[in-house]
Amino acid sequence: MTVVRLAGGALWVHSPCPPTDEVCAALDALGEVRWLVVPNRFHHLQTPATAARYPKAVVVGPASVQARNPQVKPSLATDDPAYRDATPELTPIHVRGVPFLDETVFFHAASGSLIAADLLMSACARDHWTWRWVARVSGRYEKARTPPDVRLLTRASEAASESISQLCELPLERILVAHADPIMDRPAEQLAEAWRFAVPAGR
Ligand SMILES: [Fe+2]
Repeated sequence: MTVVRLAGGALWVHSPCPPTDEVCAALDALGEVRWLVVPNRFHHLQTPATAARYPKAVVVGPASVQARNPQVKPSLATDDPAYRDATPELTPIHVRGVPFLDETVFFHAASGSLIAADLLMSACARDHWTWRWVARVSGRYEKARTPPDVRLLTRASEAASESISQLCELPLERILVAHADPIMDRPAEQLAEAWRFAVPAGR
């Protein structure tokens, strides 16, 4: 979960984690939870419970998530002016050409942070041994790559390639994802390298 406090003090919560009393106390100390963001088709599991805990918060996300989880009811999409006008600090960018994920990432210009969920992942020594083992076998141990299922189900395309290029041109200082530590070292280069398979042949 990534949290941004917006200019007016409201909180923008991306990919909510389980809303335990401890988590909610930490959020409440920061401000009022106003936005709950479902970033793609998969990171929706804790949104219904978080929405129940914060009934005034607006759930934002892709329509495609409802087919996977009818309990998640986004009331706005990230291209809705009502959402965009209220969160000018965060630029939403849809990653095209990857319908399996249908992910929208967010660029927070003030901190140079690209906020995403499954755009990249990697394993490290603190992870569970099962994931460390899978990561070593699949080349994702201490190395940023796409999730294995994203790699398997995404074909090279102009749309995907152009989307990743657009992200790499941002003044990135870090990439925050759900399944890796913050990616601070050469973030644009690591992003481009992980998605090189999506560049059509001959380019
Ligand atoms: Fe994920």
